[in-house]
Amino acid sequence: MCGIVGYIGSKEIKNELIEGLRELEYRGYDSAGIAVMQEGNIKAFKAVGKLQNLKEKTKNFKTIGPGVGIGHTRWATHGKPTELNAHPHMGKYSYVVHNGIIENYREIKSELEKDGVQFLSQTDTEVIVHLFEKEAANAKDIKELYDAFKRTIDRLDGAYAVLLITQKAPDTIFFARKGSPMIIGRNPGGEIYFASSDAPLIGKAEEVAYMEDGTVGYATPDTIYSEPKPLAFVPLSGDKLRAQKGGFRFFMEKEIYEQYHVISDTMIGRVLDKDIAFEELSENFLEGISRIKICACGTSYHAALTSSYLFERQAKMPVNVEIASEFRYKDPLLDTDTLFIVISQSGETADTLEALKMAKSAGLKTLAICNVDNSSIVRLADTSILTRAGIEKGVASTKAFATQVMVLWMLSLFFAKRTKAIAPETVEGETSFMHQVPRVLKDALKVHEKCKRLSKRYLHGHGFFFIGRDIFYPLALEGALKLKEISYLHAEGYPAGEMKHGPIALADAELFTVALMPKTILYDKTKSNVEELSARDSTILSISPEMFELADDFILTHPHTHPMLEFFEMMVVEQLLAMEIAIRLGNDVDMPRNLAKSVTVE
Ligand code: M6R
Repeated sequence: MCGIVGYIGSKEIKNELIEGLRELEYRGYDSAGIAVMQEGNIKAFKAVGKLQNLKEKTKNFKTIGPGVGIGHTRWATHGKPTELNAHPHMGKYSYVVHNGIIENYREIKSELEKDGVQFLSQTDTEVIVHLFEKEAANAKDIKELYDAFKRTIDRLDGAYAVLLITQKAPDTIFFARKGSPMIIGRNPGGEIYFASSDAPLIGKAEEVAYMEDGTVGYATPDTIYSEPKPLAFVPLSGDKLRAQKGGFRFFMEKEIYEQYHVISDTMIGRVLDKDIAFEELSENFLEGISRIKICACGTSYHAALTSSYLFERQAKMPVNVEIASEFRYKDPLLDTDTLFIVISQSGETADTLEALKMAKSAGLKTLAICNVDNSSIVRLADTSILTRAGIEKGVASTKAFATQVMVLWMLSLFFAKRTKAIAPETVEGETSFMHQVPRVLKDALKVHEKCKRLSKRYLHGHGFFFIGRDIFYPLALEGALKLKEISYLHAEGYPAGEMKHGPIALADAELFTVALMPKTILYDKTKSNVEELSARDSTILSISPEMFELADDFILTHPHTHPMLEFFEMMVVEQLLAMEIAIRLGNDVDMPRNLAKSVTVE
C-alpha cells in the first residue's frame, strides 16, 4: 500500500531512490515519482504505471555530488492513478511523499482553499505540503522549520509515514510515522536512507532503526533528531538474500517452488524427532489460557480458519476466528483467559494491527504469527512466532500461507500436548507426518505440466466454485482467492455440503467446479456433493488421489494417510493452476491490477 524512500548522501540520488523503489514496488504500482534536491534546487519526476515508466522518464537526469531525495510508489487510495495524483506532491518550495491515509484531509483542504491555496491533485496527501508551507511561512532556521513540520503532523488524523523536503533546508529530510511503517538506515559519513521496509536497505545501510509509532524528526548529513526519543539503531544483517526470480517467469512461481525448502526452515527447532517445541511460548506466558481467538485478513485468514479445525480437534480448545476488519467494529467480548493470535505475512496490515491493539488494551495475551521480523505487528505483540518463509514478493501469497498453516498445525499439536488432550504416542505420530511435508510439497510440483495444459480449458465460463469440506473448505476459499486475484476471473470458495442450499442454482456447463476430494476426510460425502453438481451439468475438475468417474478433468494427487499431507499437496495444485490460468490470460501475475502486497490502510 504505497512505498516510500528517502536518501541523503553523495551517490547518484536518482539511482538510489529508484533502486529502493524497485524493492517496494510490490506495495503498489499505480504510479511512481521522485523529487531530488541539490544546492536548493528541486527537480521532480512522476510517471503513471510501473516503475519502469519512471525509469524511462528520468534516464537523462543525473545528480553529481551531495543532495537529498524522496521517492514514492503508489497504490491509489484517494484519486485515480494519474500523474497529477502521483507523489511527490509539491507546494511552492517543498515536496512530500506519504504512505497511509489522512482521514481529516477534507477539513484541512477547505481551510487551505479559503487561504487561496490551489490544489493540483485529488489526493489526501497534498494537504500536508500546503499545511507545512503555511506553518513555515515565517520560519528562518531549521528549528523553526521543524516546529512548523511538527505543527503540521499534529493536525493529521489517520495513518501516515511522511517524508518532506523543502528548499528552506536544502540538506534536510523531515520525517514522521504513525500507523504506517518507516525505517531509517545510516552509514558513517552522514549517508542516510529511509524506506517503508528494510528490503531496500539491505546491502545499503549498515545500521537501521525501526521507528516507533508517533516518531517525528529530521535528518541531515550531521544529525538525526527524533522525538519523543532518540532512534535505536541496530546493525542490519547483510545476509538476507535479495529476492530474485532465479530463472522463474514470476516471483510467484519461484515462491511456489521454494515452499518445500522454506517449510523446513519453519520446522527447524520446533518439530523435533518425536516432540514439538516452541521456545517463543513460555509456560508462564500460557498460564490461565483456555481459549483462542485468531484475527487476520485475506490468505492469512484462510490459514487461521484451517487452524480452527486443528485446534478444536487436537487440542480440544475452543477457537474463534475473525476477519480483522470485522472484528474491529463489532464491540467484541474479550476475556483474559483468551490467547489472542494475529496472523500476517507482512506484519503491517492495518486492520490486523488495529485488532491487535484492541486485544492488548483489553488485557489479553497476544501472539503474532508473522513472516517479517521487526514489523509493526511483531513489535506490538507480547510474543511472536516467525514463519521463516523468506521475502515474499508475489502479491498472491503462496509460501507465506504454507508456512502459516505449518506453524498453526505445529501449534495445535503443541497445545494438545500441553493440555494432555492427546497421548505422547500421538504427538510422536503427528511429528512423523510433519517431517514428510517438505517432500510432499516437492512431489506436488510434478503436476505443473498438467496444470499448464489444463489451464487453456478454464479461461472462460461464468465462474468457478472451489469446494471442499473440513480443512479443505478454507483451502477452497484460498484456491478461489488465488485464482481471482491474479486471473480476474470470478471464483468463490464454498463448503461442498453447502452448495445445495443456494449456489447450486448457478450450475450449468459454463460453471467450473474445482472439487477438492481428499481420501482422508469425508471422501464419500464430498463425492455426493460433486455428483449433485455434475448432475446439473457443471464442468468438474477433481483434485483427488482417486479417479472420479464423473469428472470432466482430473488432477491426480498422491495417496497420503494424513489429511494435512493431502492439504499441502492440493494447496500446491491450486496455486499452480491459478498461476497458469493467469499467465495464459496474459496477466502480470506478480503485480495484479488494483492490489498491493501489504495493505496498510483500513
Ligand atoms: O500481510 P498479511 O498476511 O496481513 O496480508 C493479508 C492479506 O492482505 C493478504 O493475504 C492478501 O489477501 C493476499 N494478496 C492474498 O494472496
